Amino acid sequence: MEAKIGLIYGDGIGPEIVREGKKILSRVGAVYSHEFQYTEILMGGCSIDACGEPLTKEAVESAKAQDAVLMGSIGGDAAVSPWYKLPPEKRPEVGLLGIRKALNLFANLRPASLYPELKGACPLRADIADKGFDLLIMRELTGGLYFGERKTEERDGLIVATDTLVYNEEEIQRIAIRAFDVAMKRRKKVTSVDKANVLDSSRLWRKVVEEVAKDYPEVTLSHMLVDNCAMQLVKGPAQFDVVLTENMFGDILSDEASQITGSIGMLPSASLNDTKFGLYEPSGGSAPDIAGKGIANPIATILSAAMLLRYSLDLNQEADAVEEAVKKVLAEGYRTVDIAAFKEGVETKQVSTEEMGDCIAERIG
Ligand code: IPM
Ligand code: MG
Repeated sequence: MEAKIGLIYGDGIGPEIVREGKKILSRVGAVYSHEFQYTEILMGGCSIDACGEPLTKEAVESAKAQDAVLMGSIGGDAAVSPWYKLPPEKRPEVGLLGIRKALNLFANLRPASLYPELKGACPLRADIADKGFDLLIMRELTGGLYFGERKTEERDGLIVATDTLVYNEEEIQRIAIRAFDVAMKRRKKVTSVDKANVLDSSRLWRKVVEEVAKDYPEVTLSHMLVDNCAMQLVKGPAQFDVVLTENMFGDILSDEASQITGSIGMLPSASLNDTKFGLYEPSGGSAPDIAGKGIANPIATILSAAMLLRYSLDLNQEADAVEEAVKKVLAEGYRTVDIAAFKEGVETKQVSTEEMGDCIAERIG
């Protein structure tokens, strides 16, 4: 097939890890005879430096013209980077929120599972880690607190800041449908997470999710309050299959879920709209402290490329091949420095970002 793939290298370790993601896509193209055409798209701090804003109209148009976009990471160290001296609406993160909104990427899939080879990296007690886990957070990505009206004003001599958490029933329905659809392809369990004991938006959330559930009699639905969910993720992550939740809860819980896998450098994500288009990115940040050193773990980006193949291009066999290749290199003992300490009985070989990309590419096809 022919496909147009956008590449957002971004900031920090972004360029290094996207280079490896592209290497894998090109390998897949060569082995399976697909023609991938790449277009570079600027976003984040590098776009501020080049164009004076984190996301230009041209960048949005260019992204829209692609079949899918693979992204690295954006942003810098807020303590030292000049980007964070700019007004809030001009900072790198606004580019990311902006592209999600502009492309209507309302469904954010964040899988988190424990690789047997990296079990030692799991910070949970051994009896919990031994059970393993394999969950997917379905985070609503274009509504809620991050997109509601916000303002800072002075009232009666006091500065008051307001953010609003807004959802309409259609927004809840479409993300719930995504969660149930994905659950049908997994272990058929949805845990919907909310704060229905306090928030109106959560009460509506629960009602709509229950409506949607009626169309999926094979899927077991349960509800969980978000504070309890934060606890259950460390107490017994094996209980979860698909975790469906709103934007901010999903933001927080997905960081927690990634942490219990022990290595944020391993976790991919996909942000999808109601077409085949998707934006694929590692769950981790731009890690400015290790940028340019050639030591970042490219696996999250490579697995994001696998998700791109699966969800946007319907290339399931190719996606499987990439995921298998990742498992193989881990089983053979190849490790970037972040996971170097975890051996699980194999002799490990520490490799650079680029070498890890090469090792995985060689095992495809
Ligand atoms: C994420 C990030 C973003 C978010 C930030 C950078 C705006 O934390 O993708 O989880 O909150 O969505
Ligand atoms: Mg986050």
